[in-house]
Amino acid sequence: MHHPQAPIGIYDSGLGGLSVVRRVMMALPQESLLYVADTARVPYGNRSPEEIRSFSHEILDFLVEMGVKMIAVACNTSSVLILPASKKHRSVPVFGLAQAGARLPAGIKRVALLATEATVRSGQYKRLLQLHHPLVDLVEVACPDFVPLVESGKWESAEAFEVVAARLAPLKQRSLDAVILGCSHFPYLHKAIQAALGAGVQLLDPAERLATQVAGELTQLRLLNRDPKPIFHGYTTACPSTFAPLAERYLQRELRHLRQTSLGGRVPQQISQRVSVGVVEGVGVR
Ligand code: DGL
Repeated sequence: MHHPQAPIGIYDSGLGGLSVVRRVMMALPQESLLYVADTARVPYGNRSPEEIRSFSHEILDFLVEMGVKMIAVACNTSSVLILPASKKHRSVPVFGLAQAGARLPAGIKRVALLATEATVRSGQYKRLLQLHHPLVDLVEVACPDFVPLVESGKWESAEAFEVVAARLAPLKQRSLDAVILGCSHFPYLHKAIQAALGAGVQLLDPAERLATQVAGELTQLRLLNRDPKPIFHGYTTACPSTFAPLAERYLQRELRHLRQTSLGGRVPQQISQRVSVGVVEGVGVR
């Protein structure tokens, strides 16, 4: 039985999932959050489905052991590969970003899905979109060069504008109504993407719907927190020294509860110990 004061678990390969954290903080300002960034193994997008599934299950197990009351998979690449099989993980409800993004607003006829290579290769996002919107004209674009730009903090740099413009140039002739930001890292590149496609193309961020789904489920389960002082607990699987300043810059707040974890020994030592600070293992959060 979960307690309303337990945190919501959210995870991604790196900084990307903070675009979901931001939406969840807006929708549910009184909730404590426990965020895992698998920075020792980012990016996920060029990995095999087996690897991504196995990393995802390691993080899901860790989050459940830490006592979260609900999980939001803030990584499309992970959510297309593990859901719907994991709608619950060891009795904790799990919501996926791709599943939220596969519902389009009314009036969209031509849309592009921007995502990682692994997401596009899986065919799952496309399948979900076609299931809900069989008449929509859909094109998929794998954008493997976007995640490294975000992880290095170059969100609004000249380099970002150039790389994004080159990658999205083939879309300019397609008279798109919208693009789906089908990787949680891509909202960081919002300005560059909008500049590349023009102001007439709507950018859809699935995180908004995911936050609404989480809020709805917590309400239904009577698990909403009323805490006036919620806590953000952040865990990275590599040393947090690179992640911390970028995360603070993005969220516009100081992150005092940021630690490194090997996910209870699940991340192999040689990867997790790119460290300058001690590895901290979580033992449950209240
Ligand atoms: N942010 C993730 C996603 O939404 C994965 C990016 C990556 O690590 O390649 O797909």
